[in-house]
Amino acid sequence: MELRHLRYFVAVADEKNFTRAAARLNIAQPPLSRQIQQLEDELGVVLIEKGSRPLRLTEAGKFFHAHAQELLDKAVDLKAMTQRVGKLDRKFAIGFVASTLYGLLPEIVRRFRGRYQTLDISFHELTTVEQLQALKDGRIDVGFGRLKSEDPAIRRIVLREEPLIVALPVGHRLTAVERPLTLSEVAQEPLLVYPRQPRPSFADQVLAIFRDRMVAPHKVIEVRELQIAIGLVGAGQGIAIVPKSLQGMVRTDVVYRALDDRLAVSPIIFSVRQMDRSPELVNMLDVIYEIYDEMGIAHDKHTL
Ligand code: BEZ
Repeated sequence: MELRHLRYFVAVADEKNFTRAAARLNIAQPPLSRQIQQLEDELGVVLIEKGSRPLRLTEAGKFFHAHAQELLDKAVDLKAMTQRVGKLDRKFAIGFVASTLYGLLPEIVRRFRGRYQTLDISFHELTTVEQLQALKDGRIDVGFGRLKSEDPAIRRIVLREEPLIVALPVGHRLTAVERPLTLSEVAQEPLLVYPRQPRPSFADQVLAIFRDRMVAPHKVIEVRELQIAIGLVGAGQGIAIVPKSLQGMVRTDVVYRALDDRLAVSPIIFSVRQMDRSPELVNMLDVIYEIYDEMGIAHDKHTL
């Protein structure tokens, strides 16, 4: 059995159709059917129910599908890792969601750079969902995101739960309230959420907080990205719920207020390829915990 058989079978199982799977693999349908037949012959079990339309997998087929996908992910991982180990001009690519840039990311990178002066570091603004694919493709080595998705090819460490706050236009009546704001108070204002795409995103995390409290925002306005949301808050179009580190983005037309709700937090998640234990990643995690300890930021401590 070769990796090719796994790739072909996963395409057929995903597409539930030989014609679409052949198009996805860029091969003709007859050789694809032959390869699947070869695979079933070699395993001595039926993987796809005969004559089913759309295609249905047998129990053995479902088992094989899940594990074949895992093996393919590991193969991608192994390739990227081996290339990194073999390269003399070490490159290190960091993916991040925009909000982390207003918090501790710059300080983390400054300190990390001090330890790896010859490392060629690059930065890529990507949503959490985009980071997962970029890690698998080898386009980034670490991602800092906010969504808790499951993917067997990716190892994820929750660094901390960051409180969320409210961004209001300067002069808004709620800025006069001298205590943390409740979700019900905030729900009466038009709520700007971001990013609109790809989903799920931070927008869904914010909307879930309202749903969990059974509070419905009066009006939701989806916008493309964080900077647009904050700009529109400044223009008086609505309010936005943002991570606390956004207080680092100082604008004369926006005021930030605390939220009175223990559910109003957003995780900061460190994502790497499952098998990657490079010294750069171990060191970066050390730098992050070092900064948290110096700043008295509560966190659990994980190792790679
Ligand atoms: C933080 O604010 O905790 C953080 C931001 C970026 C990367 C890692 C941690």
